[in-house]
Amino acid sequence: MIERTEHDVQARAAIKSIDIDGHSVAFSAGETILEAAQRAGVEIPTLCHDPRLEPAGACRTCLVEVEGQNRMVPACKTPAADGAKILTETERVDRHRKTLLALYLTDHPRDREVAERGAPNELLDMADRYGAPRNWGTMESKRDARDTDRNPYIHFNADTCIACARCTRYCEEVEGVSAITLAGRGAETTIATADSLSLLDTTCEMCGGCVDVCPTGAMGEKMPLTRSAKPERELKKVRSTCNFCGVGCQLDLNVDEEAEGGNGRVVKVTSPPPGTTTNDGNLCVKGRFAYDFIHHEERITSPLVRNENGDLVETSWDNALRVAADGLRGVAERHGANALGFVSSSRCTVEENYLVQKLSRAVFKTNNVHQCAAT
Ligand code: SF4
Ligand code: SF4
Ligand code: FES
Repeated sequence: MIERTEHDVQARAAIKSIDIDGHSVAFSAGETILEAAQRAGVEIPTLCHDPRLEPAGACRTCLVEVEGQNRMVPACKTPAADGAKILTETERVDRHRKTLLALYLTDHPRDREVAERGAPNELLDMADRYGAPRNWGTMESKRDARDTDRNPYIHFNADTCIACARCTRYCEEVEGVSAITLAGRGAETTIATADSLSLLDTTCEMCGGCVDVCPTGAMGEKMPLTRSAKPERELKKVRSTCNFCGVGCQLDLNVDEEAEGGNGRVVKVTSPPPGTTTNDGNLCVKGRFAYDFIHHEERITSPLVRNENGDLVETSWDNALRVAADGLRGVAERHGANALGFVSSSRCTVEENYLVQKLSRAVFKTNNVHQCAAT
């Protein structure tokens, strides 16, 4: 028999578990049914849920049955309770999902070409996955839009909005800005600004987080649309580090691989999913929208060195590095290492800044090294 200390006994007693579809899942205090299910790999559909936001229980797609309770409960908002038996795949849950998704589709475009002009539409994906009927009646969306908003980055397509409030909650809870809000009642509920102002005339910081969290693309990015870029589904995502400041946020360059004669073109930037990188799915206005410089015609794309007339001319990397090394060595030989100074940038990565100070201290033996973030 294994001997247990009093501490072991107390620790075992503290472990709580919930039963999800016949599998026992341990959970920590404060976790919801959805969080426990996700950790156990059980799929529960969600539309209004975002791990960065307080649960709202708004969309009702995550309803599950709890044994012994008459009413189904929203898994995203209901705390896991020790010993509870949760059922996520019953005939009743399936009927609820089909009905709910079919109702959403009554005033939502069903054709992907119309409904998915920007980001992937999670509602249509979900309707396909759960076999929601597509032959229920239709009605025109009664939501008001702000079609004339002159801001250059964000558009709102009222027809595809499902009033899940992810955008407004993100704006309030993550950005702390509250530039947008839910307005109206029932089928007329829409996303509005104060006095229907352009986002440019509100407190909006153009972070684009509302675009990122929107499950249907109703809150979408303007530039790819005005440039007739391919839908996001057809673009290749390439993970990169934002170079606008020293924070080092991770972003995904969305590349149209066939553009530019097969060289590829970045047509959009999106943030990696929350919880996967240090920026937790967030980006600022520069990181998300200021990507035009990548293919700008005035961008310097090859090294330049001065010729005998002092004019900058294109050259190879090998030659440029040789010229720079000769110049640095020449100054050090003529005037001593402390005649050199190395200035780096907070726009470079940590690794690049490390290499600059290594070059300065280890190769040229001078501590004259500086970086703009230090000032
Ligand atoms: S861009 Fe950012 S600040 Fe502006 S409305 Fe959207 S979430 Fe709010
Ligand atoms: S715009 Fe998108 S995120 Fe905002 S309420 Fe509508 S569907 Fe939800
Ligand atoms: S995800 Fe639970 S109610 Fe929307």
